[in-house]
Amino acid sequence: MTRTIRPLVAGNWKMNGLKADLAIATEVAKGYDTGMKAAVDLAICPPATLLYLASAALLGSRIATGGQDCSTQDSGAFTGETSAVMLADTGATFAIVGHSERRTLHGETSATVKDKAQAAQKALLVPIVCVGETRDEREAGKAVAIVKKQLRGSIPDGSTAATLVVAYEPVWAIGTGLTPTAADVAEMHEAIRNELGRLLGKVTAAGVRLLYGGSVKPSNAAELMNVANVDGALVGGASLKAEDFLGIARACA
Ligand code: 13P
Repeated sequence: MTRTIRPLVAGNWKMNGLKADLAIATEVAKGYDTGMKAAVDLAICPPATLLYLASAALLGSRIATGGQDCSTQDSGAFTGETSAVMLADTGATFAIVGHSERRTLHGETSATVKDKAQAAQKALLVPIVCVGETRDEREAGKAVAIVKKQLRGSIPDGSTAATLVVAYEPVWAIGTGLTPTAADVAEMHEAIRNELGRLLGKVTAAGVRLLYGGSVKPSNAAELMNVANVDGALVGGASLKAEDFLGIARACA
């Protein structure tokens, strides 16, 4: 398949990683060779505590960094929160927002996710807006409708191909080793592209990077990354091993 969109493989470390684990990031940088650089963008989203160090360690590597969440606010009395401005100040250029773990464990609604995505864009970060259905929703035949509704609620008006990334992460595929069939991924990514067309205009939608996430591994990456409208991956567990993360990036390149 000839790609018209430069793919992005982003690693979401979730709540994993101490200072010593920055070695994973530097290993990835070492393996990100000229051939891969020509074909695929990489980003690493470590926990907030490591973001500044990771950004510094990856300086000059052409590997971006990102936060895993951000506040809807820029600053103020919001104990425990991290603003998009603060993420940007560490050198990060992405912020994951609306991950299903945030939506489920922290009760984040699409309206909140949209506010966070807007805050990210205002701080000149590119939000990676996550959407995805639960197993029950898929079994009830509602997966596409649910994801379209999440998109309508979560995507900031006026987003452009340069200021937005969308990640489709079926909740039931995250950390389970299960993945949708290539046909199901194709159906969903086409539906996402079309819905973005309605929200942002067809020309913009055609350029937005649509990542697939959920149990992506080197062994299944080639199949998933070759599906139409899949422009990269959002990788959890496998991003904690440099060789696996690079294997996925290679499959994408
Ligand atoms: P896994 O790759 O571990 O399934 O996690 C996916 C994910 O949630 C990335 O954001």
